[in-house]
Amino acid sequence: MARLKDVYPLYLANRPQQPNADLAVTDKYTGEVAFRVAQADAATIDAGIAAAVTAVEPMARMASYERQAVLQHCVTRFTERADELAYALCVEAGKPIRDSEGEVGRLIDTFRIAAEESTRLYGEVQPLDISARAKGYQGIWKRVPIGPCSFISPFNFPLNLAAHKVAPAIAVGCPFVLKPASRTPLGALIIGEVLAETDLPEGAFSILPAHREGADLFTTDDRLKLLSFTGSPAVGWDLKARAGKKKVVLELGGNAAVIVDRDADLADAVDRTLFGAFYQSGQSCIGVQRIVVHSAVYADFRDRLVAATKKLVAGDPKDRATFVGPMIDEKEAARVADWIAEARAGGATLLCGGARKGTLLQATLLENVPKDCALYREEAFGPVACLEPFDSWGEALDIVNASRFGLQAGLFTRDLFQALDAWDQLDVGGVIVNDIPSYRVDSMPYGGVKDSGLGREGIRFAMEDMTEIRNLVIRRR
Ligand code: SIN
Repeated sequence: MARLKDVYPLYLANRPQQPNADLAVTDKYTGEVAFRVAQADAATIDAGIAAAVTAVEPMARMASYERQAVLQHCVTRFTERADELAYALCVEAGKPIRDSEGEVGRLIDTFRIAAEESTRLYGEVQPLDISARAKGYQGIWKRVPIGPCSFISPFNFPLNLAAHKVAPAIAVGCPFVLKPASRTPLGALIIGEVLAETDLPEGAFSILPAHREGADLFTTDDRLKLLSFTGSPAVGWDLKARAGKKKVVLELGGNAAVIVDRDADLADAVDRTLFGAFYQSGQSCIGVQRIVVHSAVYADFRDRLVAATKKLVAGDPKDRATFVGPMIDEKEAARVADWIAEARAGGATLLCGGARKGTLLQATLLENVPKDCALYREEAFGPVACLEPFDSWGEALDIVNASRFGLQAGLFTRDLFQALDAWDQLDVGGVIVNDIPSYRVDSMPYGGVKDSGLGREGIRFAMEDMTEIRNLVIRRR
């Protein structure tokens, strides 16, 4: 098994620095300190931003094949270090080892996609002679880097959700400062270690674990031209309100729904829903939280899903048999357990699970959940899902839309026209047919509407956000 170091540096202007080892990071299963990490104060963050400003021009001057070479180096090194990276996730996030390996595979995909896209930052020639006053004029536009970017990444995918900010920034030539989640900083720091092996211009990147209180500059500093945040809705919308003139991209949460129609392959729908509801203990923005099943197959689907859920192995994430590992901390596990208790007090029926031991919350299913309770209305971000029946396709779509969130929705139906109606009518960022809302490929547009966020990630789409269009108009004599 891979080993981790005892202490890790932060990265300021491309270089490792060890001003302290103030941040203790625990193994989320044992609760013991696994390693320590340097923490940035406000002066260090300020220095990282200043360095990013000096890197704007040299980054913009890099040829696309040079940016591509940096990204390809990352692909090679992450592939060589895959076991160590997966182990780091397993320890710092408590992510079951098989999910951790899956995330490392996606990290490599994300950097590979960015390497490919880095040489495809195209513009357009635009004839402007649309009327007599513009005769002889033509336009050409290209994309230029937006400038220094501020990134804040979450605990649930410490590698790949940092990669969704870092890789497109390098692909377009934007310097950046990144604040990884304090509970899981190591994934991003190893990305920093690999980037430090490249010849990116000095100041191109700073990776700065920091206390939320001391980290306001990531949000408020006007030298930063874009803020990209992934995390909770409450924090995200508050950051946007304080972000000043910078562009803001928010990848926030949801209470994603899956619809299972009467013609679905029930065995497959059960299998996929089981995965979507409980992988990495439900700590995914697109984890299945609401399961909406046609009344003709509701009882059959429910009984099969409950039986399968009871068989899930819970426990040590380092054990390959484990499917449900710990939640990120005891406070979060207690919150979800409280929400389950509140739903039951309001009339919900517990179908399985419900018990908590420390950070381990059993995979839990409920039905008859009151629609006004937190477990149904808010983002649970834990291993719990609520089942409910529907009688018509229109009713199912209304149920999915009756949420303040709109990230992704999944549908199991064989009816193409119903699927197309859902695509038209569901107020979400993405509709996944014949699978769960939790499905994501790292090149696709990903993001939400309503309280789930603003803008899209997925490399090409993030690259657009990280650039401005610069137009050229030519008058011919
Ligand atoms: C998220 O939790 O926002 C990301 C989910 C994913 O990338 O699969």
